[in-house]
Amino acid sequence: MKNQTLEITLNVNNVKRNMVVRHDEMLLDALRRASYFSVKRGCDTGHCGTCLVLLDGKPVLSCKVKAAAVDGRAITTVEGLAENGELHPIQRAFVETGAIQCGYCTPSQILATKALLDRNPHPTEAEIRKALSKVLCRCTGYVRTIDAVLRAAAYLRGDLVETITIPEASLCDVMEEIGLPEPYYRRDGNRTPLPPLVFTPTEMERTHIVGKPQVKVDAEKLVRGRPVFTDDFKKENMLFGALLTSPHAHARITHIDPSRARALPGVHAVLTYQDLPRIKYASGGQSYPQPLPYDQVCLDDKVRFVGDRVAVVAAESPELAEEAARLIEVEYELLPVVLDPEEAMRDGTPLIHDEPDTEGIHDPKHNIVYHIDAEVGDVEAAFVGADNIFEGEYRTPKQQHAHLEPHVCITYWNEDDRLVIRTSTQVPFHIRRMVAPLIGLPVKRIRVIKPRIGGGFGNKQEMILEDLCAHLTLRTGHPVRMEFTRTQEFTSTRSRHPNIIRYKIGVKDEKVTAAELYLIGDTGAYGAHGLTVQMVGGFKGLTLYNPSNARFTSDVVYTNKPPTGAFRGYGAMQCQFGIEVLMEEIAGKLGLDVIDFKRKNWLKVNETMHLAKALGEGREGFEQKLESGALEQCVAIGLNATGFYAKRNENKNQSGRFRKGIGMAVVMHGSGIAGLDMAAATLKMNDDGSFNLLIGATDLGTGSDTILGQMVAEILGIPVSDLIIYSSDTDFTPFDKGAYASSTTYISGGAVRKAALKIREQICEHAAMMLNVDDPSGLSLTDRKVVTPDGRSIGLEEVALNSLHQQDQHQIMATASHMSYQSPPPTAAQFAEVIVDTQTGVIAVERLLMLVDCGRVINPLTAAGQVEGGMAQALGFTLYEDMIFDDGGKLVNDNFGTYHIPKADEMPIMDVIFVQTEEPNGPFGAKSVAEISIDGVAPALVSAVHDATGIWMRELPLYPERVLENLRT
Ligand code: FES
Ligand code: FES
Repeated sequence: MKNQTLEITLNVNNVKRNMVVRHDEMLLDALRRASYFSVKRGCDTGHCGTCLVLLDGKPVLSCKVKAAAVDGRAITTVEGLAENGELHPIQRAFVETGAIQCGYCTPSQILATKALLDRNPHPTEAEIRKALSKVLCRCTGYVRTIDAVLRAAAYLRGDLVETITIPEASLCDVMEEIGLPEPYYRRDGNRTPLPPLVFTPTEMERTHIVGKPQVKVDAEKLVRGRPVFTDDFKKENMLFGALLTSPHAHARITHIDPSRARALPGVHAVLTYQDLPRIKYASGGQSYPQPLPYDQVCLDDKVRFVGDRVAVVAAESPELAEEAARLIEVEYELLPVVLDPEEAMRDGTPLIHDEPDTEGIHDPKHNIVYHIDAEVGDVEAAFVGADNIFEGEYRTPKQQHAHLEPHVCITYWNEDDRLVIRTSTQVPFHIRRMVAPLIGLPVKRIRVIKPRIGGGFGNKQEMILEDLCAHLTLRTGHPVRMEFTRTQEFTSTRSRHPNIIRYKIGVKDEKVTAAELYLIGDTGAYGAHGLTVQMVGGFKGLTLYNPSNARFTSDVVYTNKPPTGAFRGYGAMQCQFGIEVLMEEIAGKLGLDVIDFKRKNWLKVNETMHLAKALGEGREGFEQKLESGALEQCVAIGLNATGFYAKRNENKNQSGRFRKGIGMAVVMHGSGIAGLDMAAATLKMNDDGSFNLLIGATDLGTGSDTILGQMVAEILGIPVSDLIIYSSDTDFTPFDKGAYASSTTYISGGAVRKAALKIREQICEHAAMMLNVDDPSGLSLTDRKVVTPDGRSIGLEEVALNSLHQQDQHQIMATASHMSYQSPPPTAAQFAEVIVDTQTGVIAVERLLMLVDCGRVINPLTAAGQVEGGMAQALGFTLYEDMIFDDGGKLVNDNFGTYHIPKADEMPIMDVIFVQTEEPNGPFGAKSVAEISIDGVAPALVSAVHDATGIWMRELPLYPERVLENLRT
């Protein structure tokens, strides 16, 4: 019965389709098999909504409906919305408003919108949120999406719809006089999305394309549901991989027998540790050489967490591969389990890495993989000389990335006997280098293609599937596809390091004169990013207030939990949560105004960052100082926009069940890894005066392809539409370290800018010859033309044709590389307003406002999307996201039904204000924006809860039970 097939007829997008489907096949699978790739799989439990389609005009989850059950019915997917090639008004609105980041959820959100607007042309903001809450989005904060739905409704009603503009304001010297447009005060409780407000210093040079709300270069293909993601791709004779994972948190495999699995017809390979060479590696995608220890092998005879790799199968269907994996017989010798990092460091603790061939573990007998010490100044003397010493301990949760597109990888041999790895990765060049020794191929025989990525947030900065998928292709000769289930995303990928954060602060005359930070990082079963995450945490956590006497100590500890890795915020968010809360606690104890106290101490422009040399990332760093910043202005504008002091006064004498609170925090981050990150870009001119921009940078949905294009367009005097932007493919694009460490705008942008300047020079030289001008440096590029000082001009197309075919023939092209010994910190102020229910402990967040100095903002719309998305992820981190384990180390909340990420109808008002500065080291004065956006919400919310109730919450997330317990005690 199960494998019986039947023929059905569906009316898909007004076209009759006869399909042969299995009796139990879900509509989602049938539609994807029929190449309707806009319909996505994001979970296994019916909670994510990315598979949403319209069935007879009503939204349904296609993963929950059997294809056979809808025989004869009408299905709408997003591929069917455009008419005569023209985008549907809803698609147009999503493109224009910047509602799309990675785009994985976009087709479903568009269909959910269509269903709403078909029945309700005038939806309220609350009705829109309710309709969108069917589809999870992990990238945006739903702000631009709601804006898109409002705009689409207006289009469909035939209302006059204005072009999107970004309000700008000037910074003046007297901070108290800075005024905001009225809506940004949110005085009337209006929740309508606002565009980001951009403050610009009067002396800042004006630009034409940089700084403008450019539509994302990939937006249109995403709203059309084009096949752009890794899995939207078919190969003949493709096999499907399945991973058998460990049911035990710590065990030795004493016997493994794959014979029953191998005997199953349609199974082509079953690999266990007995079939693969034992080659040690570290899974974190980092620059060469990756820090030791290399504590993993592709398949091992020991498992160290529930979800660890045991065996891998390739078969002719995903179901068959799963069935074969279940038939592998494994006997385990169970070993004692340790889940608590402090316990894991004690004498006599279970040893997680007792294998003799892993080098570089700091103290394997105590499960300490890394121990870090860094110090500047005379810390002891400074504590002795301090007026007061304060201490605080803070704890942060194990948050999962929960990008909607799972890890997915397809490997195959090409016609030249080279292995192609098509994979959803943030680090294609690192993957090529890392996978080569594991599969025994030289780098030159491997090509890694990064298609569109459906979100990553650091979890795709790891080698999770690529090595196994490659082994299966090597073994079978077939193309192989491997994709994780949502449960495997939780159990078998990476997550944020849970931290125990202990600060000791010495204060003299209201100045922080000494600081000590001891940080325990729970790295789970493998080291991966353990070293670098804690070093970044220590550096940012001790540099925000930058005392000249500072000591950082950290132990990074193995436990029998899923490994941790890179995650947006990368240690900085955890440590800045601790220091920000402690600073406010100190201000309270000393009777100081918290803003004055912080202002007196925070890092100022031109100040040396004392720990920059001692605490690099994975190694010694470089001397650095803060060269641009607007923290003072961010805080002042935020105080004004929220009415901070007035509200704090009002909140003082509250009683009753519901209490209001307002809080704030300041934060800093970095822009790339100083002295390590490198990126390159290639630009090539075509016959018509257009250009190919080839970049190794990986756009995860951040909009980096677009902002890099804006930089080129600005320099060459062309619209972004004259650029054909391609990223990234190790065969065709130049090297880039990949998308992490908030480096793309700064490092990849630096490379793109240099390449564009070289091209401009070449164009001007050639045009000077054509125009009989002696000095090419006097020429300018504007409006697709080269213009002489006396007003003559020649088109770029003429220059291109002439240089390629007529005079002094050559290809106008350039490649440039960029690295930097500076990692300029963006700075920001985060404000939060809450209402705490003192009977239930539930915190209702009313408003989040972030004011960001990220240097010059290259694209205010996409940058605002980044900030909103970061705040949304931070909201989950602060209020409800944590991975919960039973005593045996099994994850209890391994799906979107039990692991709660924020939905559209749970979000507060979120506003973004940019305060531009000009970073001297950044392209066009830019710094990073992607990660700082996640850093401030936790301390600002804890500050607001304290304002409301008087309690300090030192452990996250702020579960209602924790709040209640704290209120009681
Ligand atoms: Fe259908 Fe997640 S794939 S709800
Ligand atoms: Fe929604 Fe990425 S844009 S999940």
